[in-house]
Amino acid sequence: MSRKFFVGGNWKMNGTKKVADDLLANLIKGPLDPNVDVLIGVPSLYLDYVKEKVPSNILVSAQNCYKVEKGAFTGEVSPAMLKDIGIDWVILGHSERRQIFQESDELIADKVKHALESGLSVVACIGETLEEREAGRTECVVAKQIAAIKEKICNWDNVVVAYEPVWAIGTGKTASPQQAQEVHKVLRKWLADEVSEAVSQSTRIIYGGSVTGANSKEIAKESDIDGFLVGGASLKPEFVDIVNAKK
Ligand code: PGA
Repeated sequence: MSRKFFVGGNWKMNGTKKVADDLLANLIKGPLDPNVDVLIGVPSLYLDYVKEKVPSNILVSAQNCYKVEKGAFTGEVSPAMLKDIGIDWVILGHSERRQIFQESDELIADKVKHALESGLSVVACIGETLEEREAGRTECVVAKQIAAIKEKICNWDNVVVAYEPVWAIGTGKTASPQQAQEVHKVLRKWLADEVSEAVSQSTRIIYGGSVTGANSKEIAKESDIDGFLVGGASLKPEFVDIVNAKK
């Protein structure tokens, strides 16, 4: 089964309205391969602003949301609020949320569940730390992270899985295409064994961690890598080259 290539740019906590305008202008100039789903993860404060300006071929995503619809949760944003302003995607479980904000596998799974039930599509992020990799625990760590999500959801149609080794995020140390493929293959087999062969074949598993215009073409050749989640380079003109890595 062919899976549509998917490239997300996670702006993280960067930018201003002016920066957003410049990034959008770069995307509009493109040209972007029409065979790729392109998503931008925008700071929540600017979602509405960007949504108003973005062309329809670009998906706009939040970078986080909470696990319930409304209530006394100061500082949080709910899926219902995102839907209310026309946002259909959210990135959940990013390693910065896990590490800096101490989000557990269980909380992330609850967020994924509620986001899906609220009609959002989700980029669900998983990945091991350097310490875990060096201890030979990569496969067991990512399996545990994805299993926590699987426990709470019954439909994978609106889920994109992002494998992002923590040691490769923002460090300039990209996983080699082989290292990334190895884990993606394990995850695809995990989906086949634990969910279904159909879900394993249809779910996009994208790679993140120091992806650049220069290294994206090689990584994109691997059979189980269905796209990228890009941080730093999504704030640069080369993001267009990453979108077009398959061309
Ligand atoms: P990076 O970040 O591309 O800057 O390494 C990736 C990510 O956090 O999604």
